[in-house]
Amino acid sequence: MRLFIKNIKQLVGTHHEDQVLVSGEEMNQLPIIENAFLAVEDGRIIAFGEMADWPGITDWRDLEVIDAEGKCVLPLWCDSHTHTVFAGTREGEFVDRINGLSYEEIAKRGGGILNSAAQMAEMSEEQLYSDALERAKKLIALGTGALEIKSGYGLSPETELKMLRVIKKLKENLPIPIKSTFLGAHALPPSYKGRRKEYVHLMMDEVLPQAIEEGLVDYVDIFTEEGYFDLEDTLAVLEAGKKYGLKAKIHVNQFNAIGGVKLAVEHGALSVDHLEVLEEADIEALKGSGTIPVALPSCSFFLGIPYTPVKPLMEAGLPIALATDYNPGSTPSGNMNFVVSLACIQMKMTPEAAVNAASLNGAAAMELSHEVGSISIGKRANFMITNPMKTFHLMPYAFGENHIETVFVNGAVFS
Ligand code: NIG
Ligand code: FE
Repeated sequence: MRLFIKNIKQLVGTHHEDQVLVSGEEMNQLPIIENAFLAVEDGRIIAFGEMADWPGITDWRDLEVIDAEGKCVLPLWCDSHTHTVFAGTREGEFVDRINGLSYEEIAKRGGGILNSAAQMAEMSEEQLYSDALERAKKLIALGTGALEIKSGYGLSPETELKMLRVIKKLKENLPIPIKSTFLGAHALPPSYKGRRKEYVHLMMDEVLPQAIEEGLVDYVDIFTEEGYFDLEDTLAVLEAGKKYGLKAKIHVNQFNAIGGVKLAVEHGALSVDHLEVLEEADIEALKGSGTIPVALPSCSFFLGIPYTPVKPLMEAGLPIALATDYNPGSTPSGNMNFVVSLACIQMKMTPEAAVNAASLNGAAAMELSHEVGSISIGKRANFMITNPMKTFHLMPYAFGENHIETVFVNGAVFS
């Protein structure tokens, strides 16, 4: 099966196939080819360039030709931080927050993550899977072509494993790459009150090995935050990960900076996510490291908390990845298009930087840059054709509207 797309107004994100991510001020440079073509064979990108350099078609067998006159083509988004497997929504807490309670106050009275965990315990694995499958399909139709999904609403051995098995089934049945992250230490269940160390020990020394044995885990994670888990717990997670050869992706600096960034960097974490509260020492720790800062602007939008300060991160020469944090508590939306708009409008990222952050850098935050995240020779043909537009800048600018005409996954029309 071969596909040839011609007359593309802007072919966006044509990075060299060896480029893993884009850092610092270079994020403002996004390779674009005007009036371009794109050729796909067996689900992979085999050629692209300017129409003027198009070699012409000699072999018409099994070839579909699409005329993209006036339209842009972009790589699919790579969403490196989500909680897409959940048992139910929390609009009651949404209204409580409108009436004045804070996210932290709701959590303290037993809502928040514990609310989701209670719903999760009740739901069958089959139901969880079919709900998450529908959710993930909607995300792909919104342009997401690679996805990370966390456990963390189980908070007990059997329910954490149930979540991880659902993620594995999603991996097996969806056409996009999916990474699975074990977030056993997301919140302390009430039955472990006063026994936090014991709980972390249970998750890291009993549940994690079993999950690994079943082939359910790619990364480890912990919610490092006042009132949740401290640096000692974080160290336990980082070390458990290391013991089993798993990298860490850490929830850190969402409400308070307690030194988690430095610790994560020192232990070779793949990413540090949230960073709404960022101190000079955190940036210093990140400089020159291989740890990727991940910003989650739709979480900031929904909770009314600060946006991750991307300017100092970029000035320090660091890469930034953008992700949704899709979950029922702090971000009930998995729409990467909205994330890209928020990054431009609220975080003052240029559209070029935002697209780099939401595609190639997102792929890097899942170690998938060799497969997805850009229009590059040999990568999966995971891309979107937009509606007609003058430049791709219309996408973040005209926010809240779906600008995607067609989503292609592995060279086939998905929606
Ligand atoms: O990434 N911050 C911790 N965990 C999630 C929210 C979890 C929830 O409220 O259900 C987050 O924002
Ligand atoms: Fe999260």
